[in-house]
Amino acid sequence: MNVSEDALAQELVSIVGKEWVVTEREYMLSYLQDETPEPVRPKAASNLILVKPISTSEVSEILKTANQARVPVFPVGGRTGLVGACVPTEPGVILSLERMKRLEIDRDNLMVVAEAGATLGDLLRACDEAGLFFPPHPGDEGAQVGGLIATNAGGVRAVKYGVMRNYVKGAEVVLATGEVLNLGGKLIKDNAGYNLLHLVIGSEGTLCVITKATIRLHPKSEHSVTVVVPFNGRHEALQAVQKILLSGVVPLAIEYVEPDEINLSAAHLNEKWPVQAGRAQLLIILNAESEEELLVACEKLSAACSEIGAGEPVLAETREEQDKVLRIRSNIYTALKPQLVDILDVTVPPSNLGDLMDAVERIAAKHGVHLPVYGHAGDGNLHVHVMKEEGKASDYVAKVKKEIYEAGVRLGGVITGEHGVGAIRTQELTTATDEKELSLMRGIKRLFDPNNILNPGKVIT
Ligand code: LAC
Ligand code: ZN
Repeated sequence: MNVSEDALAQELVSIVGKEWVVTEREYMLSYLQDETPEPVRPKAASNLILVKPISTSEVSEILKTANQARVPVFPVGGRTGLVGACVPTEPGVILSLERMKRLEIDRDNLMVVAEAGATLGDLLRACDEAGLFFPPHPGDEGAQVGGLIATNAGGVRAVKYGVMRNYVKGAEVVLATGEVLNLGGKLIKDNAGYNLLHLVIGSEGTLCVITKATIRLHPKSEHSVTVVVPFNGRHEALQAVQKILLSGVVPLAIEYVEPDEINLSAAHLNEKWPVQAGRAQLLIILNAESEEELLVACEKLSAACSEIGAGEPVLAETREEQDKVLRIRSNIYTALKPQLVDILDVTVPPSNLGDLMDAVERIAAKHGVHLPVYGHAGDGNLHVHVMKEEGKASDYVAKVKKEIYEAGVRLGGVITGEHGVGAIRTQELTTATDEKELSLMRGIKRLFDPNNILNPGKVIT
């Protein structure tokens, strides 16, 4: 099939209008990639048409047309993913929902109904203006609601409130046939049959196209503090995580960082990281209903950390200072990216993170490579970075990754806890997953998308 054929482009033009169909490659370049590091990023196919609908009924018409013609459709959001999930790897249609970005806050139900193309930044601003709070911070603020849900995005604030899955209460989705389904709603409880909503969350564009979602919010929490605590070693920092959680304090975030990488990120942003002490550090975000409650939480936190012999904690109290600390943390990846081959996100039970760290150290020593780490310590989610190694034969990359995945699985973990499978981890998913589970997944894919037009080649192959 040659999708540059006029017939398909003409049909798409008749659905969305000429202005919203792009066939010239030079005008779609930014849609051909995501944030996956260049050495492992999949290549976009040729013969692609980019289409930008404005409504669910246009999305429905597009899918119906593509399904009849057996043309692959690649739904894209803000293209901030790290596993090539939205890269159009076969000739077909790139479906961007960026024009569908309405947001409607429902204060009485503490919910927002957001169209798929609204960005995380739009969502955070709308909530803030309404005096409400969207607790997770699932990454880059250019990410779009549809993509956040399709990837079940995580981010740094999952310890207390969880990931996208814990917030999405309803979704309007379009199936490969063009049929529109409404799953869930403004509901706190919903036990009406198998939960298709949760099947769709995290399905990375392979089961349907999410056009709209109902997302739960919280009242704004005015009192928060960010604390950076230095430790002498990696193990002390990780032991402190369990001590903190057992003390009854439930932080929004418990992030593990090391001075080299965090200073690199600060320099990249022209900022300064506030703490230089320690071989390892925890960045902890606390929020509370009142100053008093926050103070009690800080005292418990400090007692838990000093049991492990932590250094002096440094507090960021103003909104600006807290935002700066979070921004520096969030940009470590960007700062490392030019030297990066791949970023992993193996996740283990939180108390096994120390053992995973040891395994990573052994693997680095065995192969004579540098493997910088940081991660969401409170979630057992470690980002190990496989770096470019000057003058080294490139076969170390596959070996190092395989050994890290094996260590993660041996420790009761999964090959990905955050970034998903996308295009670049399909083989690893197959290796690490039970054959019966894989066959059920394949069956679900066939049921939703019998002609395999939705994001083919991703997640499950
Ligand atoms: C982070 C992204 C890379 O944690 O997942 O910064
Ligand atoms: Zn992460």
